[in-house]
Amino acid sequence: MPASPAAPGPRPADRGEDERSPGRYGEAVFEPDSPGEAERVDYGALTYDPISRARLLALGVSPGWRCLDAGAGTGGIARWLAHDIGVAEVVAVDRDIRFLIDAADDTLRPLAADITDPSFDPGRFDLVHARFLLMHLPDHEEVLSRLAALVAPGGRLLVSDAIDLTTEPSPESPYRAAMLAMWQALRETIGTDITWVPGYPWRLRVIGLAEVGAEVYVPPLTRGRPITSFWLETWARLREAMLGTGLVDTGTLDEAARSLSSGSFAGLSPGMISAWGRRV
Ligand SMILES: C[S@@+](CC[C@H](N)C(=O)[O-])C[C@H]1O[C@@H](n2cnc3c(N)ncnc32)[C@H](O)[C@@H]1O
Repeated sequence: MPASPAAPGPRPADRGEDERSPGRYGEAVFEPDSPGEAERVDYGALTYDPISRARLLALGVSPGWRCLDAGAGTGGIARWLAHDIGVAEVVAVDRDIRFLIDAADDTLRPLAADITDPSFDPGRFDLVHARFLLMHLPDHEEVLSRLAALVAPGGRLLVSDAIDLTTEPSPESPYRAAMLAMWQALRETIGTDITWVPGYPWRLRVIGLAEVGAEVYVPPLTRGRPITSFWLETWARLREAMLGTGLVDTGTLDEAARSLSSGSFAGLSPGMISAWGRRV
């Protein structure tokens, strides 16, 4: 009698792991020393900074606040907090702070650290801000709770990530195919997951924040806009991984890039959800 197969253990996905063991942001893809990476991040910042700034003002950010910007990138929000608002302090944390060093002064303090490190504890802040960070972290739920714990009583947490309300319903096209391949490629290379982000308001309530609110901004996508350059640059960096999904071929990717660069393209980009709450 053949030996009976061992009882199957839980599938990796059931254990909360990805079946493909993804790499990390900045290592497997979006390496900070790759040419043009700062510009790519800035294209995203140019699109979303006005939305983030307006929200931060509505949340009452003002001189005297101590602020933490997690995954600060090229530091657009940290610089604005330090130099335009005149907050008391901005700790700008990133695993790689090369784009933040030149901004360092008495108010803006770049800090090289991994936000997923359980021992990360830089103090308590009136504002904790994280934009386009948690979606790239497989342990986002745990990190969200720890970010909330860094907010001083009465302080604010503001988190923003990508939300894609427009690709699925858009007409069949090389653009649509490329965008769907991009999300899958991101998931397979670094574990990026945006499926959970619409639950932000509920998650902030569950971790005990009060005065929870949320909003979504969906930028128009036409030639010459920073968001259009952002997607073109992102696709270029992910090209091999996008081809590896099997959802697109080189002809489709080339046509998608051509159409997005053309004056006749008009659409709506994937957008940004922002959610906030106050620590009681
Ligand atoms: C998509 S960029 C967003 C940058 C900036 N927040 C913005 O919105 O323009 C993500 C940033 O998070 C940083 N990052 C990724 N994983 C991190 C981690 N585990 N700890 C700290 N920073 C991390 C990356 O180095 C990168 O600068």
